Amino acid sequence: MRSTTGWQARGTTLHAVPIPRRDLRHDDIAVRVDFCGVCHTDLHAVRSHNGEDVLVPGHEFTGVVTEVGPDVTAFRAGDPVAVGNIVDSCGLCTMCAAGQENFCREFPTLTYGGTDRRDGTTTLGGFSREYVVRDRFAHPLPAGLDPAAAAPLMCAGITVWEPLRALGVGPGTRVAVAGLGGLGHLAVKFAAAMGAEVSVVSRSADRAGDAARLGAHDVVVSTDPDSTAAARDRFDVLINTIPVPHDLGPYLNLVAMDGTLSQVGYLGSLTVETMDLLLGRKKLTSGGSGGLAATAAMLEFSAAHGITADIELLPSGRVTEALDRLARGDVRYRFVLDLSDLG
Ligand SMILES: NC(=O)c1ccc[n+]([C@@H]2O[C@H](COP(=O)([O-])OP(=O)(O)OC[C@H]3O[C@@H](n4cnc5c(N)ncnc54)[C@H](OP(=O)(O)O)[C@@H]3O)[C@@H](O)[C@H]2O)c1
Ligand SMILES: [Zn+2]
Ligand SMILES: [Zn+2]
Repeated sequence: MRSTTGWQARGTTLHAVPIPRRDLRHDDIAVRVDFCGVCHTDLHAVRSHNGEDVLVPGHEFTGVVTEVGPDVTAFRAGDPVAVGNIVDSCGLCTMCAAGQENFCREFPTLTYGGTDRRDGTTTLGGFSREYVVRDRFAHPLPAGLDPAAAAPLMCAGITVWEPLRALGVGPGTRVAVAGLGGLGHLAVKFAAAMGAEVSVVSRSADRAGDAARLGAHDVVVSTDPDSTAAARDRFDVLINTIPVPHDLGPYLNLVAMDGTLSQVGYLGSLTVETMDLLLGRKKLTSGGSGGLAATAAMLEFSAAHGITADIELLPSGRVTEALDRLARGDVRYRFVLDLSDLG
């Protein structure tokens, strides 16, 4: 067993402690983690941590390969790599066969808080200096992408990329992005680069300047009835990144006839007024993360279009501050931790 240093939750606070990493299997690579984004999912995980499970958050990171297992051919020591929120899947089910490892029928192995398929241990995440991962689930980081600003592509980016692609977004599509945070700002960049006409749906007009700079056409202010009334039935696709359970009705009202609202991520049970779907034959869908092929395509597209996250880079020692500020919505638009302070 090897060891590294990671930010482990004790109750709801994080502490730098030695954590175990497995010895390399034949198809594993060891990665020196340089940069890891701070996702709202990390906040959910830390804030709801009951102390029973070992929790080291972090599931969108970039770094450099330091060692490879004997069967690894795709990577060599020194290669820049990127890892997201899934580190294994069964590889056999119809979802895996379709390249949708994120929907694996046996449930994909999550980067942290998951159960390793081979030894049953709990996976520990990227808020750490080293990660050991099966080679298939690491991606070469394309040259030209800044490794710190590219880290959030691996969760925030792919989670909005897949629904945008699956819903056929392209030139002429009217896309709305609700919640201008980590996922939302990348959704705006991707949709704009795909040629869509993009609007942001935000709680205030404060971010109108940023929205325009990111590629949005305008902002619909969700708290202003005049603004939402003017945008009624307007969008072919609405990507909803709001991180708390809420009434989808006002957002379905913004969707055009035969259009689709994609509620990304997991919010538990929600109640939907079917009349909000009936009037306009509207569709409600969801998604989370992405398959390996989609992730590779997303990285390629990002490199071709020069897309990375807008980040605030902090030494990992300031992780508590990052989580507190994320909880307050005080982030433009993703915190990324620099793990080099872990030695
Ligand atoms: N694999 C997956 O399925 C997956 C992956 C990543 C994230 N997620 C989930 O996706 C969600 C978004 O994550 P994120 O990292 O983008 O979060 P984030 O950076 O905090 O952004 C969320 C945005 O939603 C809006 N918002 C926040 N609180 C709100 C409230 N109480 N009511 C209405 N709007 C609110 C804010 O935008 P405005 O200020 O513009 O209103 C905020 O910037 C989270 O639930 C996360 O767990 C899922
Ligand atoms: Zn995430
Ligand atoms: Zn599977």
